[in-house]
Amino acid sequence: MNILLTGGLGFIGSHTAAVLAGEGHEVVIIDNLCNSQRQTLGSLEMIAGKKFPFYEGDVRDLTLVKSILQDHQIECVIHFAGLKSVAESGVDPLKYFDNNVGGSITLMEAMQAANVKKLIFSSSATVYGIPQYLPYDEEHPLSPMNVYGRTKLQVEEILQDLSRSDPDWSIVCLRYFNPIGAHESGLIGELPQGIPNNLMPYICQVVSGKLPHLNVFGDDYDTKDGTGERDYIHVMDLAEGHAAALAFTRDHKGWEAINLGTGIPYSVYDLINAFEKSAKQAIPKMVKERRSGDLPIYFAKVEKAKNLLNWEAKRDLQLMCDSSWKYQQGAKR
Ligand code: NAD
Ligand code: UFG
Repeated sequence: MNILLTGGLGFIGSHTAAVLAGEGHEVVIIDNLCNSQRQTLGSLEMIAGKKFPFYEGDVRDLTLVKSILQDHQIECVIHFAGLKSVAESGVDPLKYFDNNVGGSITLMEAMQAANVKKLIFSSSATVYGIPQYLPYDEEHPLSPMNVYGRTKLQVEEILQDLSRSDPDWSIVCLRYFNPIGAHESGLIGELPQGIPNNLMPYICQVVSGKLPHLNVFGDDYDTKDGTGERDYIHVMDLAEGHAAALAFTRDHKGWEAINLGTGIPYSVYDLINAFEKSAKQAIPKMVKERRSGDLPIYFAKVEKAKNLLNWEAKRDLQLMCDSSWKYQQGAKR
């Protein structure tokens, strides 16, 4: 199929591009490089052994997006392009609503005009909010606790309304849990700018000597060892989940939300221990106050993805840490 990846040079988009190209799909990328680098395109082309048509541009540019859809006879769009910092979204909400919600609306308008009606959207487990029960299934009430999460929920709702208005649409909202890890080649991975917010990239920078120690945000939660527990998923499993969702859209019409996780929660200390094995060195750490807005524990119910997409995560926590470390060692930042 001819597929457009918005935000295709970012962390999840680049791994998905590698998987889809490996399956023989024609992948076209649009990215404004606000949180990625052009060099990722070269790395992707090394992995795939072929060129990808790339547009440095913004999904809010209706004319550009329409012309890409038409020129490349795109059949499905995977919409990764978005801003993802929970903290920044609280400080600058309009920037987040403009980019994440406004960008998605412009993309939908372009798709409608070009008669492209298959869309896979990057949503997040953060749409669920405080767990009423665990694991979160897709029927769990939706009540995001931050602006970023509200942008994701709003786009999900707009997409649902769009599919109600025109039964030709096939829309899949994938609710990611915590993606970490990197491509097995070590050529692409997570490339955060500045000091990372998230646990795995922070650990990588501590182990490579760029940051002095890891701050463990709270060791007094009601969890197995007192630290926060999350459903970490290898980014290559996540990428393969997109390939499975793409196959699903061939015969599907309507709107679905589907969790992509492993269903297994790991603590901050579990991740530190596994990473210490990968890097064969101890990770200096200091226990700090809980980070505001953090939940103690959440993880996915994964049956819907198994049933509808015939997909489940295969890679374990050690492989997530090994691949992140391999990428970090080769990364020049
Ligand atoms: P990322 O920042 O690495 O990738 C996003 C890409 O989109 C970047 O390359 C950026 O330059 C591009 N982009 C942003 N706004 C754009 C715009 N208006 N026009 C064109 N390009 C634009 O993030 P990621 O981790 O790969 O996440 C991809 C998607 O998945 C995002 O929508 C994110 O919100 C969502 N998501 C991520 C996580 C996570 O933990 N990484 C979890 C849940 C959901
Ligand atoms: N943590 C630390 N130290 C750090 C960073 C994180 O102890 O330096 C802890 C957190 O307190 C939490 C766990 O590690 O318990 C995971 O934190 P992350 O920041 O890596 O991930 P979050 O679960 O907070 O959020 C991430 C993304 C969100 C997304 C969500 C989806 O940042 O955008 O996963 O599940 F919505």
